[in-house]
Amino acid sequence: MSELVRLSISIEKSLYEQLEGLVSESGYENRSEFIRDLIREQLVKREWKYNRDVVGTLTLVYNHHTHGLSEKLTELQHDHHSEILATTHVHLDAHHCVEVTLMRGAARRLQRIADRLRRQKGVLHAALNMSSTGAELH
Ligand code: NI
Repeated sequence: MSELVRLSISIEKSLYEQLEGLVSESGYENRSEFIRDLIREQLVKREWKYNRDVVGTLTLVYNHHTHGLSEKLTELQHDHHSEILATTHVHLDAHHCVEVTLMRGAARRLQRIADRLRRQKGVLHAALNMSSTGAELH
């Protein structure tokens, strides 16, 4: 574990009360761990902003009856096989599928892959979750 530093900050009382509310609502044991995670959130945003090596998952909900869509999605995933680590497909009902694709690579490249997949006709919803390799989050 790395060396700990204690810091004191000044914030408005109302903001402090809001912070305490957030900490207890989210079930954190203490304020410090909550604030560490807030900082890590910002660090992950920065990794994406500066095009670092990152991890992301793309959730796609689509109607598999749309002509040619399943084949097109598979083809696009093959085009990006170096970034795409795994894909899980679940048949939601008679018509709808959900696919979760786990990717790793340069942030902008992952965003472009997500955009290419979400643009396909028949895709009903696409959500890119932007995460991190964790290498810089200590
Ligand atoms: Ni399916």
